Amino acid sequence: MLTQDEIKQLVAKQAAQLVQNNMTVGIGTGSTVYWLIMELGSRVKQGLFFRAIPTSKKTATLCAQQNIPLAALNDVTALDITIDGADEIDPNLQLIKGGGGALLQEKMVAAASRELFILADETKLVRQLGKFPLPLEVIPFGWKQVQRHIQATYNVKASLRTKDDQPFVSDHGHYILDCPFNKIEHPGILTYDLNAIPGVVDNGLFINMADMVLVGYADGRTETLQ
Ligand code: A5P
Repeated sequence: MLTQDEIKQLVAKQAAQLVQNNMTVGIGTGSTVYWLIMELGSRVKQGLFFRAIPTSKKTATLCAQQNIPLAALNDVTALDITIDGADEIDPNLQLIKGGGGALLQEKMVAAASRELFILADETKLVRQLGKFPLPLEVIPFGWKQVQRHIQATYNVKASLRTKDDQPFVSDHGHYILDCPFNKIEHPGILTYDLNAIPGVVDNGLFINMADMVLVGYADGRTETLQ
């Protein structure tokens, strides 16, 4: 039986084969994508050339360490593919992302890509989204108003994400509110409603964005969902 980390390596290694010479590729964030970057790094060493658009500062640093050429989203018109992880995946390939706090840049890069390819171990598959607290990226000014709004409208106690006892600050200078909805009945409606709250920059629902999910299982099998 494979450990969760070994499953992540397995799917990351397979997905790395999708990257071909001269492509422009969005590179996600997280512990699964870490293995993707390592694999792409060794392919670059063997002569592969592609441009990476990173979805976070952490990913940019990892890519640079692997000598993977980086480009900015503003410098490209379209990306061939983005490969990223997810925190929850439902049967319609709707996602919750943002466990690592990179949801805003991840969503912008994915939206500019022809294809969004998601890597996951089997623990990420759910029947219904919502067990994983939905991350909400908010402007620090007046964030408590957003928290009150979530409580009053959805009866959900949103908590401010912290790091070392301080508010966690995203790459773009925002705070994250983690919202334990528990069950999200209509993710497509919720994403619009949440983003309409003043002070909300974006939320971690990725609706109708993923084209394919590569899932890895503890017994070593992999499966593509689309
Ligand atoms: C980062 O903000 C997230 O969206 C990640 O893609 C997600 O949390 C998956 O991360 P892991 O691969 O570490 O589980």
